[in-house]
Amino acid sequence: MIDNKTIESLKLALEASPSNIPLHIHIADLYCQREEFDHAETLLRNALKFEPDHKEVKLQLSKVYGREGKFSIALVLIEELLEADKNNAQFLEQYASLLAKTGQSKEAIKVQEEIKRKGLNEEDSSVDFLNRAIDVVEGRERILEDTNIEEGSLDIEPIQSDTDFSDVGGMEKVKDEIRIKIILPLTNQDLYKAYGKKAGGGILLYGPPGCGKTFLAKATAGEVKAQFMSVGLNDILNMWIGQSEERLHNTFEMARKQTPSVLFFDEVDALGAKRSDMRQSSGRHLINQFLSELDGVDTDNEGVLVLAATNAPWHLDTAFRRPGRFDRIIFVPPPDETARTQILKLMTKEMPQDKLDLIKVARKCDGFSGADLKAVVDIAVEDLLRTSIKSGKVEPITTKHLLKASKQVPPSTKEWFATARNHAIYANEAGLYDDVLSYLNIKR
Ligand SMILES: Nc1ncnc2c1ncn2[C@@H]1O[C@H](COP(=O)(O)OP(=O)(O)OP(=O)(O)O)[C@@H](O)[C@H]1O
Ligand SMILES: [Mg+2]
Repeated sequence: MIDNKTIESLKLALEASPSNIPLHIHIADLYCQREEFDHAETLLRNALKFEPDHKEVKLQLSKVYGREGKFSIALVLIEELLEADKNNAQFLEQYASLLAKTGQSKEAIKVQEEIKRKGLNEEDSSVDFLNRAIDVVEGRERILEDTNIEEGSLDIEPIQSDTDFSDVGGMEKVKDEIRIKIILPLTNQDLYKAYGKKAGGGILLYGPPGCGKTFLAKATAGEVKAQFMSVGLNDILNMWIGQSEERLHNTFEMARKQTPSVLFFDEVDALGAKRSDMRQSSGRHLINQFLSELDGVDTDNEGVLVLAATNAPWHLDTAFRRPGRFDRIIFVPPPDETARTQILKLMTKEMPQDKLDLIKVARKCDGFSGADLKAVVDIAVEDLLRTSIKSGKVEPITTKHLLKASKQVPPSTKEWFATARNHAIYANEAGLYDDVLSYLNIKR
């Protein structure tokens, strides 16, 4: 649970920079997790004074009003947002949720189908909506019929990972940390046992989006030649209540039977973030189930390595970080120059090219995530296509194209650090975010 200290310190930060909108949103989110919606409302309304048309603030405020039962004002806000952007999955989702809550289940399902039809954010949308809709639409059969979602259609197949550390460019510090914290204990189990230490347990990778967490997890499995099982928690949460626990248990059992194995929970913050949305008790159940699987209460997790990745470690229940659970935490920073060069190389390797100096491009892309680099390449390619169509021949991609494109893409990791920084400075219990501080060159 988010403690008072965290909130108080973030509020102090807000006093220092009262127009910091992301911070308003973030604190409001924490209040929502504690179900203190009135506080969240006050914060968000205050944020709107600074930026009356801020979309994210309006969306969050609509959600808060929804939770407070102030449905008509919640609907007004969401309708305003949809007027400006009728294809936004989050807006549509919220709209569907409000319709469902106000007894307009047919309309809600229509909007839900629209989200699906347009292929907007498929994974996420059904989760929230269904969880909320369960509360209001008559019974589960009814929803099943209407939305045609199969029960329990989730299968997690163990795979042999086809990447290892040689595919991961740069990131030497992270690789070393993974070697020491993960690989050595697993490959020298006897030695560790002699010192009374067990191989296995949980490791949490955190860092800004698009910077290689998922990629590293898979490469780690390849490195130890373990079976790799990737579990999207959103998939598990998507299950019917009660079934998700069973699924989670089966997944762990499967990993226990195939040691050495790496069980990877991607986007583990879904548990924390979704919890406030879910009916309180069911969310709690799933978390408890997860914790007892991690502890290996009834069974033995030896040889099972549990990795998890998150962009928002501050959303995770502190219970996750107790010894034996996710007690080892690794910061995955934005790709360094070598990593950026490697990523660009992977992305351009099949293209016609001419004297491409990727190191030069990478040098200009400080602070860019993998996803940002993809945007750079995409923009350059579009440009190239345009000239190719004009000239009637296939133009090769050059350094110049990429450099020009890089100026059009703002590095997205800055935003993440703006939030992370607040936590690292004001809520750095047990030195949890020391790596973030040193990345930002902030002395403690
Ligand atoms: N060090 C690296 N070397 C080579 N490729 C990389 C590296 N880091 C990232 N990439 C590439 O960038 C892409 C994005 O990385 P990835 O999906 O692992 O990020 P993530 O941190 O899991 O992001 P998110 O938080 O959004 O899930 C990967 O598919 C991979 O191709
Ligand atoms: Mg990922």
